[in-house]
Amino acid sequence: MPSKVVVGVQWGDEGKGKVIDILASRADVVVRSQGGNNAGHTVKSGGEVYKLHLIPSGILYKGVKCYIGCGVVIDPQDLLREIDGLAERGVDCSNLRIDPRAHIIMPWHRKLDGLSEKALGGGKIGTTGRGIGPCYMDKYERSGIRMYDLVHDEVFTRKAKAVGQLKNEIITKIYGGDPLDVDAVIGEYLEYAKRLAPYVEDVSVLTDQAVREGKNILFEGAQATLLDIDFGTYPYVTSSHPVSGGAAIGAGVGPNRLGEIIGVAKAYTTRVGEGPFPTELFDGTGDLIRNRGQEFGTTTGRPRRTGWFDAVLIRHAVRVNGLDCLAVNKFDTLSGLETLKVCVAYQKPDGTVLTEYPCDIHELEGAAPVYEEVKGFSDDISGCKTFDELPQACKAYIERLEELCGCPIKMVGVGPSREQVLER
Ligand code: IMP
Repeated sequence: MPSKVVVGVQWGDEGKGKVIDILASRADVVVRSQGGNNAGHTVKSGGEVYKLHLIPSGILYKGVKCYIGCGVVIDPQDLLREIDGLAERGVDCSNLRIDPRAHIIMPWHRKLDGLSEKALGGGKIGTTGRGIGPCYMDKYERSGIRMYDLVHDEVFTRKAKAVGQLKNEIITKIYGGDPLDVDAVIGEYLEYAKRLAPYVEDVSVLTDQAVREGKNILFEGAQATLLDIDFGTYPYVTSSHPVSGGAAIGAGVGPNRLGEIIGVAKAYTTRVGEGPFPTELFDGTGDLIRNRGQEFGTTTGRPRRTGWFDAVLIRHAVRVNGLDCLAVNKFDTLSGLETLKVCVAYQKPDGTVLTEYPCDIHELEGAAPVYEEVKGFSDDISGCKTFDELPQACKAYIERLEELCGCPIKMVGVGPSREQVLER
């Protein structure tokens, strides 16, 4: 089966965009199956830089079909902005299809995202503020508005009126916020609907057809394993399933259709937003990694927290995703560091050693990472064309990571461009 799934295995921003871009150039179909415009994929193609949030990266390749599955939440205004932005740069989006079951992010979702974060104060999640959580809340509460509704004027107007009034009650009475003008929102969204209607089609049926025709399908993950609603550092997570299983549900095909499962990691760890991060660095090495690795968010521009590679976390990701292999990026960022550290366990204040990623973040409170030290490398590796050309110490670091994670590293990133990924 030629299909592949690409998932992030840390806290996002592992360079999935680049790996996805390499694989999208060889794909017939690219499917996005969860998350929304909280994601940000930076893709460098033909000397141009594209920042995609919702549209699958396959859009940059002529003839590649791009599907947004039912597991994705869609902000229509942002999606249209992305479509228009691509059109201005000569990228045609006529191959885009959106599942009618996908839920719509409404202005009250964005508003409630902000108000609830404000109310949480110091305990906030650190969300992207895009209304992702409140939209998924409505989906699971069964009061959400779907793409199908949006493109059916009467259904949409009826639902949006009822839901909007209720949301205004919550906004004003619970949070003390200003109400939204529901009629204005309806008017605005009906305009978006007119433009989006031609893209709406059953993605489950389309993806199944592609499977039956033996097409090369790429299931493009967004966010990452440690942000998964169940397998991440709850509650500091997103509200969807970025793990590989989520790709099947979010596209509308069976798990046996997914093919090879590829996890993308960085040669160190980063995270944006709040929540535990056992190998986080607060010293000059952390700053060096942040500045040299350009660790600032694509979606929000926030500086990312940085730290050493955590093999406990990756082993957890190997298990919950069923990873066949890893693609590890940004080895070049580590060049010049005398010693590299890899976390192999966590030690709790009572001396207990944890070798599996804990189910609850409270287990990590006060826990110290147990490090294995590996010799660093000083050479500039960004020009290496093959794995064999890498300095011995860098190869030894990669091979040790494979042993500690229990998963082969098949792609090695030595720089930002597609050409700087060494395939083994
Ligand atoms: P939300 O998805 O906006 O609700 O944010 C929940 C958490 O997920 C926050 O810590 C965000 O910073 C994080 N998050 C969401 N999307 C991404 C992403 O694409 N990359 C990295 N972190 C993300």
